[in-house]
Amino acid sequence: MTETDFVPETLTSDISFGKVTWKAPSNIALVKYWGKLPGQIPANASVSFTLEDSATITTLTYRKLGKEQNDFSFDIFLDDIPVPEFIPKIRTFLGRIERYLPFIKEYHLEIKTTNSFPHSSGIASSASGMAALALCLMEIERRINPELTKLYFETKASFLARLGSGSACRSINGEIVQWGKHPGINSGSDLYGTPYPHKVHAVFKDYQDTILLVHQGQKQVSSTVGHQLMNGHIFAGQRFKQAAQNIEELKQIFETGDLNSFIQVVESEALTLHAMMMTSIPYFVLMKPNTFKIIEKIWEFRKKTALHPCFTLDAGANVHVLYPFKEKEEVMAFIRDELVEYCEDGLFIQDRLGNGAIKIE
Ligand code: DP6
Repeated sequence: MTETDFVPETLTSDISFGKVTWKAPSNIALVKYWGKLPGQIPANASVSFTLEDSATITTLTYRKLGKEQNDFSFDIFLDDIPVPEFIPKIRTFLGRIERYLPFIKEYHLEIKTTNSFPHSSGIASSASGMAALALCLMEIERRINPELTKLYFETKASFLARLGSGSACRSINGEIVQWGKHPGINSGSDLYGTPYPHKVHAVFKDYQDTILLVHQGQKQVSSTVGHQLMNGHIFAGQRFKQAAQNIEELKQIFETGDLNSFIQVVESEALTLHAMMMTSIPYFVLMKPNTFKIIEKIWEFRKKTALHPCFTLDAGANVHVLYPFKEKEEVMAFIRDELVEYCEDGLFIQDRLGNGAIKIE
């Protein structure tokens, strides 16, 4: 689908009031999106695991205004408390999507959102948050045009979510989601995420993700700033090529269930992401000493046991430990005995592969 497919024919709405709730999950990238072109177009394709329990629940109440306003009319609450610091991001988002949902200025929007993980945990809520909001807004369009197909609804929700936060487009539908054009993956689009279309071995179906909270609190560098630092980065060209190659390799790995190769691609991607941050100008290090301790422990454990936990990182110090369900008992014992001591306040989040967003009736 192209951008113009998302511009609706009906430009106005006569619906006066409505309320809708969606729960959208977070996701963790295996091949990372780091670097973008104008219009939230990724510099390289990415692939992620959708999470099950780390999620945002958003309730949108929309009330028709007397007459269309010049500006967007909305209130935003986190855990029932107004969050003025979210206003600029939401306003930018609404500005970007207005062309595709031209009726939003006709409504006052009350956005009430809550995360299943603590806001201060350092777990990015922008992916799940923007996905949940995009889905809620799509409900207004579905009420105006009940004929919308499920595929169109989900694709456009992903398209809109991307305009809020790139990685949010991977939080709509599917256990494994791809985003970005790539010659080796069918149906890949820069405009929206789609469920991974190729064969996936059973070992990946119930993959686990234990998120070790090494450092809670606000991110030192926002990912938007991080992406910008890839413009003119001396290693950018090589990095984008490497990401494309890793996507190609993952295709084979997903098909065969080759866990050792999976580990190599995933850990290399995580370290490369941080290497890009360390070699940009300005440079920065988001890992903490305890991040390294955990990585070393995971490597030691793998050598000792021949089991398959591996780590990945997002743009922060927390560590996602990924492993197959059949190794859960041993890996969880290892996490409790040897890794939890490196977590701030001993905190971790137990999660696993999920299916995508759900509407809450
Ligand atoms: C390191 O999607 O948060 O988590 O598009 O600027 O909102 P914006 O960036 P964002 O970047 C995510 C970066 C990452 C890697 C990934 O999720 O692919």
